[in-house]
Amino acid sequence: MDRVIIFDTTLRDGEQAAGGKMNIEEKLEIARQLELLGADVIEAGFPISSPSDFEAVQTIAQEVRKPTICALARALPQDIDRAWEAIKDAEHPRIHTFLSASDIHLVYQLKKSREEIMEMARSMVARAKKYVADVEFSPMDASRTEPDYLYQILREAIAAGATTVNIPDTVGYAIPAEFGRLIEGITQNVPNIDQAVISVHCHNDLGLAVANSLEAIKHGARQVECTINGIGERAGNASLEEIVMALKTRDDFFGLTTKIDTTQIYKTSRRVSEVTGFVVQPNKAIVGDNAFRHQSGIHQDGVIKMAVTYEIMDPRTVGIPASSLVMGKLSGRHALKERLAELGYSLSDEDLGRVFIAFKELADKKKEVTDKDIESLVAEDKRTVTEFYHLERLQVTCGDRGIPTASIRLIAPDGAAKADAALGTGPVDAVYQAINRIVGVPNKLTEFTVKSVTEGIDAIGEVLIRIESEGITYTGRGADTDIIVASAKAYMNALNRLLSAKKVVK
Ligand code: KIV
Ligand code: ZN
Repeated sequence: MDRVIIFDTTLRDGEQAAGGKMNIEEKLEIARQLELLGADVIEAGFPISSPSDFEAVQTIAQEVRKPTICALARALPQDIDRAWEAIKDAEHPRIHTFLSASDIHLVYQLKKSREEIMEMARSMVARAKKYVADVEFSPMDASRTEPDYLYQILREAIAAGATTVNIPDTVGYAIPAEFGRLIEGITQNVPNIDQAVISVHCHNDLGLAVANSLEAIKHGARQVECTINGIGERAGNASLEEIVMALKTRDDFFGLTTKIDTTQIYKTSRRVSEVTGFVVQPNKAIVGDNAFRHQSGIHQDGVIKMAVTYEIMDPRTVGIPASSLVMGKLSGRHALKERLAELGYSLSDEDLGRVFIAFKELADKKKEVTDKDIESLVAEDKRTVTEFYHLERLQVTCGDRGIPTASIRLIAPDGAAKADAALGTGPVDAVYQAINRIVGVPNKLTEFTVKSVTEGIDAIGEVLIRIESEGITYTGRGADTDIIVASAKAYMNALNRLLSAKKVVK
């Protein structure tokens, strides 16, 4: 097989990243984008973990038809049954069941013998197989599992019906050459391995997730589990865009393809970053702001003469838009629509109408409206259409004398306007206190950052905040040329997510 199956787990392992919680609408939107990207398998979630995760997986299974929709389940009957319940309407359903295999996990965590684990693996794969033909099995912490035991458990899982066997480097411990040998060992020592696809799932604790995945591919793995922007538990997972672009750019070395439409990479990365609130570091390979920027004079000179001198990939291959039209005050709705299409957005007439109004307001304040501004306007619009409470009006007084005071008017879920005012230690605090008086959901602000979308004094300010409630972190974003307004919007966004997760408001 000369194609590598791309298994995206942004919505499951990616969401496990601290503070990466997404609501159902956001998950569905990301799943649709992953379908456009051409992911073969979307791991949509872990249905037994919460009613909202169940609902998200079920919704994605019903709405996203092209890729395989996979649900995660521990090797326990109730997990497998719940996973099936969530994905049974999918066009291509898959159950992914996992169970620890390393002695470290068996002795200290599960307190079970190898024989007991073997039996659980066998019987739970068989249980999943009664529901669906496509079953994946993962012996968790495989890279720290004694190889002979690993071979046996894989053999038993395949005999019980697993069609994909996934080798997780759960704690990011493996080193590429060693991981490659482990995969080769599996190809040689698991007698029925020809009946299953070998998959790998690498974590990035030592910064080696992509290198380990590529080494595994070289030694016979034909499915990689990865996430957009490499988000995931702790230091994250192998990054989808890096693996796909390594295979494409170094086709001469690997001789393997994927089904990914690489021109969708940039847009997918931006959406995941917006939804999760995880900012992509500027030097991040493939999708970072600096990934295709040349600073040194020598490099610039080379690129001007012939791009290949210092560029191994064409930025257009990953969908980074080439800026052409300058948008401003005189640009009309049609020009905005065209620009949005070039940036990869296709908005309904209604959505375009709202974004156009916001665009005009911005163009009144700013001479040139850049692509980043436009992306920020679309993101801001998306945030507001799904909210329970809507920020209608905000007024603040502050300065070096007097006490910062904010008055706020919100539209409540029942449509009623609610107003209140509060004092604070600063203008943002005053705004948050006033909002709290109306919404009344206790929480703690744990992070607050503000950055400008573009250069210049008239730039849009983007605020990212995280709040914590009952041990769960919710992220909020807001954008506006006034950073106090942006701060208020970000807080409303985080509160709305909290309310949605807790279903406090119906
Ligand atoms: O890292 C891991 O081992 C996992 C498994 C559930 C595959 O995420
Ligand atoms: Zn994982």
